[in-house]
Amino acid sequence: MTALASFVRLAGTLDPRGPGARQIDGLWQFMLVLGGVVFVLVTLLLAMGLFRRGRDDPSPPPSHSGRGWLLGSVALSTGGVLAVLVATLGVMRDSPAASRDDLTVDVIGHQWWWEIEYPDHDVVTANEIHVPAGRQTLFRLRSADVIHSFWIPELGGKKDLLPEDTTTLVLEADEPGTYRGQCAEFCGLQHAKMGVYVLASPLDEFDEWAVHHSRPAVEPDTPLERRGAEVFLEADCAGCHTIRGTEADGDRGPDLTHLADRRTLAAGTLRNTTEDLIAWVTDPHAYKDGVLMEPAELEDDDLDALVAYLGSLK
Ligand code: CUA
Repeated sequence: MTALASFVRLAGTLDPRGPGARQIDGLWQFMLVLGGVVFVLVTLLLAMGLFRRGRDDPSPPPSHSGRGWLLGSVALSTGGVLAVLVATLGVMRDSPAASRDDLTVDVIGHQWWWEIEYPDHDVVTANEIHVPAGRQTLFRLRSADVIHSFWIPELGGKKDLLPEDTTTLVLEADEPGTYRGQCAEFCGLQHAKMGVYVLASPLDEFDEWAVHHSRPAVEPDTPLERRGAEVFLEADCAGCHTIRGTEADGDRGPDLTHLADRRTLAAGTLRNTTEDLIAWVTDPHAYKDGVLMEPAELEDDDLDALVAYLGSLK
């Protein structure tokens, strides 16, 4: 049942939840019907030909050269291709365009995670993109390494993230909800584990989220968490990760300032639970072979402290 449910969710292109995706869905339906008609027609003609050949009586010599059939097929095929071209150009022309009121979100692709920045809100996060529902968001896309592709099937088409240029994409979710996305361009060993989530919420909830996430990390509250903050620096997690408000200012891995607020770890690979967090920090390569992150070799006490601290970063 779960497998079926996740398949239905993955078939999100057929279940549009925003204006951009709806346009593409309309085009897809049109092409499906057209392709269906062509398929039936070609199959019928093929069957007719086979049926004639299979008959015992010797075929009468063709009464004409078949030119009419030839010209007719060429005209029909050309007409079909032109119809698809015109419909496609129409969708491209009418696809949502950026406007002044749009929220701007910068998405930077990394092998294999998504850096998310809100330039107007001073927010930096990773792999989960909060947006207001019912409003357009302008995504500015670029890559820190190889070419990736940003794709939220339920909300719209895909767009490449390039190392040397910035591309843009405008998306809107009709309703609050969680929309799963995926890197759609092969980008190395863990391309398949480069998931991303768009979480659309009512505008006031989004504003609250943005204000909270622009703040530095909470101070550790208990002795265990305080020890965890020390372990974070001692074990050199800070060499790659930033926790705003602390000495940790690495920039090779995701910003962890509000890590505990995220639903998943490692770009949708693991759940953000204590169990999975321990599994991830102690043996990241078991879950995502090839990632830059090194396994943390810690005594049990220090590991517990570290995980307690990271779990407190709401
Ligand atoms: Cu990034 Cu595929």
